Amino acid sequence: MTQIDDVKSRLDIVELISGYVNLQRSGSSLKANCPFHQERTPSFFVFPDRQSWRCFGSCAEGGDAFSFVMKADRVEFRDALQTLAARVGVTLVNNQESGGVARQLFEINDAARLFFQRMLAEPEAAFVRDYLEQRGISDRSIQTFELGYSPPRDNRLLAHLREAGYDDDLIVRAALARETDDGRCYDFFRGRLMIPIRDWQARVAGFGSRALDPEATPKYLNTPRTPVFDKSRILYAMHLAKEPVRQHGAVIVEGYMDAVMAHQHGYDNVVASMGTALTEHQVALVRRLTSNVTMALDGDPAGRNATLRSLESSWGVFQRRNSQQTSASMLQKPDAMELRVAELPPGQDPDDFIRQEPGAWPAFVEQAQELFDYLLTSLSARADLENPDGRSWVAHTMLRFVAQIPDPVRSDLYLDRLSARLGLNNDTLRTALREVQRQSAADRRGRPVADTAADATPPPARDYDAVEESLLAFLLQHGMETLDHEYQTTPSAEWFSRSENREIYRNVIAGMGSDEIQVGPELESHLDALRSRELRLSSQVKREKAWLQMSLALEREYLNNETKQLSSLPEIMDDMESPLAQRLLDNNSRIGEIDRLLKPSAPTGT
Ligand code: UTP
Ligand code: MN
Repeated sequence: MTQIDDVKSRLDIVELISGYVNLQRSGSSLKANCPFHQERTPSFFVFPDRQSWRCFGSCAEGGDAFSFVMKADRVEFRDALQTLAARVGVTLVNNQESGGVARQLFEINDAARLFFQRMLAEPEAAFVRDYLEQRGISDRSIQTFELGYSPPRDNRLLAHLREAGYDDDLIVRAALARETDDGRCYDFFRGRLMIPIRDWQARVAGFGSRALDPEATPKYLNTPRTPVFDKSRILYAMHLAKEPVRQHGAVIVEGYMDAVMAHQHGYDNVVASMGTALTEHQVALVRRLTSNVTMALDGDPAGRNATLRSLESSWGVFQRRNSQQTSASMLQKPDAMELRVAELPPGQDPDDFIRQEPGAWPAFVEQAQELFDYLLTSLSARADLENPDGRSWVAHTMLRFVAQIPDPVRSDLYLDRLSARLGLNNDTLRTALREVQRQSAADRRGRPVADTAADATPPPARDYDAVEESLLAFLLQHGMETLDHEYQTTPSAEWFSRSENREIYRNVIAGMGSDEIQVGPELESHLDALRSRELRLSSQVKREKAWLQMSLALEREYLNNETKQLSSLPEIMDDMESPLAQRLLDNNSRIGEIDRLLKPSAPTGT
């Protein structure tokens, strides 16, 4: 729950608005002379059941508690939030503050990035440039990936950053320097090839770095966790790969250099998981863009199965998505998400492979197998399937995967594959599956709530929110520029029932065409939730259709809701000529029109 939801859930709009105007009961709602314009007969209504207000008179405006305070007190969203939080006794976590620190961290990281890049051009870094050349990394890749060099001695980064006006505290918080017990600081990265890591929004979140001396350990040293850097939530090179991934699907490799080499050869849909198994957070990032994800794994089978087994919950994210799509496909036919695996020949990683035989890469990716089948084959090859213990081990490992599938029809399909491979009877497997499901449900209960990508998405919202939030998610993910002109309709901000959605919508529309959306820190977590919503519309045609449907659905929802409110007013019956009654009639006719537009059109041309 966001802080905004928390505040909202403790508010009573009737009590709030009573502090401003004198409300009178009118059926199930309350009315007053509108505080926002001059009038003799009340056309301002408050609806307790939906915690909303509306003026049916000349303002023709409405909304929730936030928009009321914004309008009545003439303040911005952020101030309304402050006022209302204070009113219900919610202490706002100082987002302003943490937003400020995040900005400073990105900024100082960027300053460090520039410094490292400049250092790479210095005479003393000639050996680093030689190293890169030997690895076949082109000057262009050095530029694109902003590779750099950290000097080995004299804490030169630290000196440079101090000089530029950054204080030690921030430098240490960014993990660009370490502090000794006696309070002295020294550079964290020394004598290394520097690899800036940009996040989804292309901000420099941290660094990877490679030792240049083959003896040095660790080979790679990364920025430890900071308020803006968490390796498990970032995919390296994603900021360069968004559009290619959207078009061609994602290929996930394990190493920085693998991603660099792939891009150098034009395979720019490649991103790197930075050595760890793919996490649910990373899966949540990619699935904003595509349903087609292939992992290209190094050919070193030691520990490989363990890595694959650890993908169980990431795989579960895909499966839950698939099941949800089957049941709620208002916008599109389900487009199943698959996690596929391609393993390189022994001893090779994508970097080696692409350097040796760049043209063979697409075919290599193409022959990837579904994770499930791949793992089943690879476990079966290890276990002795003649032996009951061996078979049971494979079955149980695989059943943990099947247990992630919420949809029984789908899960049956996987059980069939298992039973065919292991020669076990379907009923036996089904019984075992129930046991595994009970077990993993118990495991999940013991786990902190926000641990998985699925849990991090907000609870299913009421229907009208679903439309407005899908529409926002669409805008955030696709924008409107890619739509054909005739589809570029712009819904009215008024149609959004929740102020936070309205606010984000206004900001998105205002910032159209740029990738960066400027919202206050108080809206950032809501924005993140919207960004991680699933709405994969792979083709232009699908996107245009979806946009049109969502815009119409949003308008319909708004009108429908207003119509319900109007019909609940006792005074509507008094005078069928009144503006209220007129509005009701207009609404009904527009709703009829929208329904005709939304109805699947009859086949043409026959
Ligand atoms: P690899 O050792 O396979 O890296 O680790 P690589 O890219 O092939 O290395 P080169 O070719 O020898 O330069 C894969 C990834 O795992 C992470 C890094 O992200 C690396 O790119 N890693 C590896 C670390 O974070 N720390 C390590 O010590 C090793
Ligand atoms: Mn390598």
